[in-house]
Amino acid sequence: MKVTVVGAGGNVGSTVAYTIAERDFAKEVIMLDIEKKEGDKTFYPSKGRALDQWQTAPIQNFDTRLKGTVDYSDTKGSDVCVITAGVPRRPGMSRDDLLGINGNIVKTVTEELVKQSPDTIIIVVSNPLDVMTYVSYAASNLDKKKVMGMAGILDTARYRAFLAEELDVSTKDIQAMLMGGHGDTMVPLPRYTTVSGIPVTQLIDEGKLNDIVERTKTGGGEIVGLMGTSAWYAPGAAAAQMVEAIMLDQNRIFPCAAYLEGEFGINDLFIGVPVKLGHGGIKEIIEIDLTDSEKELLRASEKAVRSTLDDYNKLMDK
Ligand code: NAI
Ligand code: 2OP
Repeated sequence: MKVTVVGAGGNVGSTVAYTIAERDFAKEVIMLDIEKKEGDKTFYPSKGRALDQWQTAPIQNFDTRLKGTVDYSDTKGSDVCVITAGVPRRPGMSRDDLLGINGNIVKTVTEELVKQSPDTIIIVVSNPLDVMTYVSYAASNLDKKKVMGMAGILDTARYRAFLAEELDVSTKDIQAMLMGGHGDTMVPLPRYTTVSGIPVTQLIDEGKLNDIVERTKTGGGEIVGLMGTSAWYAPGAAAAQMVEAIMLDQNRIFPCAAYLEGEFGINDLFIGVPVKLGHGGIKEIIEIDLTDSEKELLRASEKAVRSTLDDYNKLMDK
């Protein structure tokens, strides 16, 4: 089983690769990035990170072979490809500011990947997530089940971590679902949040829960404000969990950005919804019941994602 991560000389990509290697379910992880020129020197970040990470194998007890490269021919025959290539969010930058730069990168990277691995599955991480996933899907000519975006696992992980802290319980016991685009309009669903099966609304007062929902929505920005760049440990772990679910055919139910054709009343758009992940990619989109107010929040999120997609299409028409 072979996985490729593009953008692996960077923070999120190298974390995806390393998390996969530590879990030891893949034969090899190819870490691709571009070379970097500084003066008369040329650096190869993905080769350096791969070598460093591979040298932890005897200590961390894994056999997954990590290999750095700048050459797409090394990615040939990849079962799953993860795209983290692009520019991360800096202070004051919205995810949408990244649109033009990352759009071109994601399109080119996708075309190169499918040339080498025409049957691969693609997981997009680059922002703005929902639109970049659409860009990759359009450039790939792959079936819609094989292209998806990572955001919901990260956003629910943030939500679950905040709840565990507030309730002083194990993160393992908190289950949650979240929908919508990866942005401030995301839709956490307290009605679908439980602590070992107990509805969370029975354990926390409404005001505190609302504060946690709001903190989750701006969770990415909170980290940008602290570090001057965006998060990578939780995003990397989240993307690796998707790769694992697909490669080990786990049938895990996760919120992922999926291509919708009428589900939840949404057409021709990638947006976060509950899906079943296993061999072949997205096996099912699970159409959970939503109340009128949840539907309204999802509509607002749909509108925000569609408006970014329109902006992207306008940029490309120029
Ligand atoms: P980073 O700057 O550390 O890494 C990005 C890497 O992409 C760099 O090493 C760069 O050389 C590489 N790259 C740029 N153009 C390339 C090309 N044409 N081909 C191959 N590689 C190329 O950035 P970081 O922090 O790893 O973030 C990566 C992306 O992930 C950003 O767009 C960021 O906004 C996004 N992100 C998305 C999250 C999500 O929940 N979906 C969460 C966190 C980050
Ligand atoms: C995050 O949520 C910025 O999308 C990135 O951390």
